[in-house]
Amino acid sequence: MEEVISIQWFPGHMTRTKRQLAASLKLVDCVAEIIDARIPFSSRNPDLRKLINNKPRIVLMNKCDIADKTQNQKWIAVYKNAGITALPVDCKTGKGLNAFMPAVRTVLSDKIKAWEAKGMKGKTIKVMVVGIPNVGKSSFINKMVKQSKAKVEDRPGVTRGNQWFTIGKGFELLDTPGVLWPKFEDKIVGEKLAFTGAVRDQVIDTEGLAARLLLLLRDSYPDAIKTRYKLDADISELQGYEMLELIGRKRGMLISGGEIDTLRAAETVLDEFRGGILGKITLDRTEDYGAFRI
Ligand code: G4P
Repeated sequence: MEEVISIQWFPGHMTRTKRQLAASLKLVDCVAEIIDARIPFSSRNPDLRKLINNKPRIVLMNKCDIADKTQNQKWIAVYKNAGITALPVDCKTGKGLNAFMPAVRTVLSDKIKAWEAKGMKGKTIKVMVVGIPNVGKSSFINKMVKQSKAKVEDRPGVTRGNQWFTIGKGFELLDTPGVLWPKFEDKIVGEKLAFTGAVRDQVIDTEGLAARLLLLLRDSYPDAIKTRYKLDADISELQGYEMLELIGRKRGMLISGGEIDTLRAAETVLDEFRGGILGKITLDRTEDYGAFRI
């Protein structure tokens, strides 16, 4: 599986992004961190907590429409225990986004009170949006801008490429140009990013990847595979490739000579998982990752 994740975040890029982030932080009151609710641990930037220092943070658990509802709630509780507000959102439909601005106001309530005491009632709240690629950062910004029917403002920032969006009266979002990196040195994290399609184009071994996903699902969501692919056999002892063959056979995916087209089966499994067709699935469970510092 070594070849699965080959996205490179070069030290130079990371240093530049860190510098941009530090400069942009000075312009905002709060940071909105977007993560993928299917992999709340693996879709995080491992250095973010340190990078944003003591700036208030709110977490948007995006793609909650295709994540496990019970796990969504458990993750929200994990964040709550850490003193962080996490909101389940679906930036494809906009579900849950109404809660965003009120939640930020609550997170910043002390600061807002302090502004008011200084006569700065209604001072614009500025929030920086961050996330690793594919978590839905653009979808979030687009939805918020559309909902507010606001015009995108072209205002030069301190950092070149910074873009501001007005999303409500006295509310602005800052999109920064730098790309945040995931915990890419961790093989399991890399694999999960590949399962969700975050590193789709880098995948070389499609069948190997699908087989690994099936193995994971066999143990955590066996009914999802059994129902979708109409498997009556006991799959609890099967290996990933064996399940792939079973699925290919069930779906009549054959190549000349009657052999099973496991590549097509693998593409189907990955596509269906990514599209939420296999069901609402979370691969990073609080039972395994909830104790990590977030
Ligand atoms: P990014 O800026 O963080 O890189 O992410 P982007 O918004 O481009 O979203 C990445 C993919 O995730 C897109 O799918 C997008 O539609 C999908 N997505 C974003 N938010 C949600 C959500 O809440 N739920 C679901 N189910 N999907 C979401 P794509 O296949 O790359 O493109 P598209 O054809 O769907 O636009």
